[in-house]
Amino acid sequence: MSQQSPLGKPVNRVDGRLKVTGAAGYASDHHPDRLAHGYLVLSTVGRGSIRSMDTAAAQRSAGVLAVYTPLNPLKLFNQGGGLFGPNWVPLQDTEVRHHGQIVGLVVAETFEQARDAAALVRVAYDARTPVASFEDNIPNAAVPEPFFFGPAIQDYLADGVASIDDALAAAEVTVSGSYRQPIKLHNPMEPHSTVAVWRDGHVTVYSGTQAPVGHVQDIARCVGVDQARVRVVSPYVGGGFGNKAMTWGHTLLTVAAARALDRPVSTVLTREQMFTVTGHRSAVAQTVALGATRDGVLIAVKHDAYSSASTSGAMFPWGPHTTTLPLYRSENIHIGQRAVTLDIPTSTIMRAPNEEPGAFAIESAMDELAARLRMDPVELRMKNGTTVVPGNGHPWSSKHLDECYRVGARRFGWSRRNPVPGKVTSPDREWLIGMGMATAIYPAARFPSQVKIRLQADGTAGVSTAGADLGTGLWTVLAQLGADALGIPMDRIRPDIGDSALPNNTGAVSSASTAGAASALRLAAESVKRALIQLAVENPRSPFHGMNPQDVRYADGALTAAARRVSFGDLLEATGSAAVEATEGVGFGGDRQGFEFASFGAHFCEVRVNRWTGETRVSRFTTVVDAGKIINPKTARSQIIGGVIFGIGQALSEGIQVEPATGRFANANFAEYLVPVNADVPPMDVQFVQHPDTAFNSEGVRGIGELGTVGAAAAIANAVYNATGRRIRDLPITPDKLL
Ligand code: MOS
Repeated sequence: MSQQSPLGKPVNRVDGRLKVTGAAGYASDHHPDRLAHGYLVLSTVGRGSIRSMDTAAAQRSAGVLAVYTPLNPLKLFNQGGGLFGPNWVPLQDTEVRHHGQIVGLVVAETFEQARDAAALVRVAYDARTPVASFEDNIPNAAVPEPFFFGPAIQDYLADGVASIDDALAAAEVTVSGSYRQPIKLHNPMEPHSTVAVWRDGHVTVYSGTQAPVGHVQDIARCVGVDQARVRVVSPYVGGGFGNKAMTWGHTLLTVAAARALDRPVSTVLTREQMFTVTGHRSAVAQTVALGATRDGVLIAVKHDAYSSASTSGAMFPWGPHTTTLPLYRSENIHIGQRAVTLDIPTSTIMRAPNEEPGAFAIESAMDELAARLRMDPVELRMKNGTTVVPGNGHPWSSKHLDECYRVGARRFGWSRRNPVPGKVTSPDREWLIGMGMATAIYPAARFPSQVKIRLQADGTAGVSTAGADLGTGLWTVLAQLGADALGIPMDRIRPDIGDSALPNNTGAVSSASTAGAASALRLAAESVKRALIQLAVENPRSPFHGMNPQDVRYADGALTAAARRVSFGDLLEATGSAAVEATEGVGFGGDRQGFEFASFGAHFCEVRVNRWTGETRVSRFTTVVDAGKIINPKTARSQIIGGVIFGIGQALSEGIQVEPATGRFANANFAEYLVPVNADVPPMDVQFVQHPDTAFNSEGVRGIGELGTVGAAAAIANAVYNATGRRIRDLPITPDKLL
């Protein structure tokens, strides 16, 4: 590593200036010649079928080029049960699966013309009553097929113990609770949008996506075009949180319409349309029962989850499997997952899909147990932490959770907490003040990732991969890693991402981008240095010509041998070469086998609850994170802050109201669906305990994009309990629940 390496430094985002000056081109900023505009028509019933559609007025409307409906469709092919997306494609049948489903696309010369014409489309339905109430249908929940995390129901029981309930009955102390949270929405700042441009049988698709290569595969399969003829370009993504990891119907229709009309077409979703067209986080109901000895050793843990799922697609969270199971050691553990399939819009992955709900339940229950035992919640967790994971028996590759608890408690001033609820008030006695804490865990993943490094004659180096930066920092991290690996300043690195034509990358999912890119980049750097040395000894115009490659060394952007030192730019100049390049990649999983990999964290927070109005304000927050080595503390910190803000929304304000009779999302707008704003976010203290996880990858890095939100809501609910003595198990914690 060179003296000047920016690795581990809080450098500014390399794309920051472009973004704040408006120079960064998002998908819908592309305005090719003859661009036409699409606008979706959505269903206004929750279940049934389309009897007829009257599109005559829309077709006559100014500027309209086409009105596509199930009765006049664009041909699409079903992508076949997409893992995280819908299990159907739009306009291929007259079925209505949920309220707000795509039933038409109007294309016109301008956006406004398309929108106005869409309002003129009349649909007659044979409506049926949707199955839409989560609560009412919990008794009909089904046990799903095994998923990534194994069987839905898992029991680990000590010898001679017949059932988890027997183990609970034998415990000296037990607590149990039922925890609920409503449907939540991603709603990234940049709405989903797609611009499709066909030329000579090839299509370029500008479409905000977390996974350019996966987007190509979906589009190719569903539109019916060879993958080699589809290119997705998406250098900047205005947030995603999971719902830009897959392909939604508007993209497929836009690509197909552009082909049919032989014109570029742009479709931008409205904020309201995003609530039903591009997925959501399931509603989740969970029960947790904990049994312990009087001195706080867990002996029985039972955690069952019921998640809403959708007729139109099957992703729902498996909370207990990735939180309770790996977090706490117990002789007897039961985890269970069931799904309640409803006629509602498609549920999908959303930032810490499994862990956000799972941690709310288990971390609330642990707080309840600590209160019952009159034990400090931090001490209870430290006493019961795992060293190996039940089921596979793997030890952690690197786990420093206890250090997170200790550092967090000290920084936050946890020792000043009064364990008796309702005892601390503001001087004017208007506000009840409480402190709470909770644990964060998120599995560390690595997915297939390739990186190309290209040393160029002008002394710069291209570093590229088909990954995505949805605000997560990959642009900057690549520049930092490239500068470190090549020993040159960051301003000579030319990162390039967000284009399916670049070397293959699974994309920005499961907080895995940095681990994949870092590993592949390190390998590519070694390869390109070897290629440079080879050129140096073989090219007759090279000062190193004829030397033994073993005698030539690469350091700090230059080759040295004997007394000679030549920068790679000069060498490429001298030899008349434009560039040398190398591409290397990594596959799934960690470098070493037999380990369990995860990031951890500890949240500490203070809340103030108004005695008279029940209003809850989060007043302080400290999060300490164990995610291996941190490449950029500035971008990493903003990931954790963003995750905690998600948790504030989860705890205090966010939730969809589903109308049971119609399956309609009743508050599908930003006036009534409340996300935290700046005034809701307190000063945030974020710390990293940096222990490089070199069993996971050569750089020792793990993911952080999703970790920060895990447990944040539980920390707030636990602080509300400490402030008021009221245990709210039903999110969000709105004032009415505290009065
Ligand atoms: Mo994340 S929900 O895997 O984009």
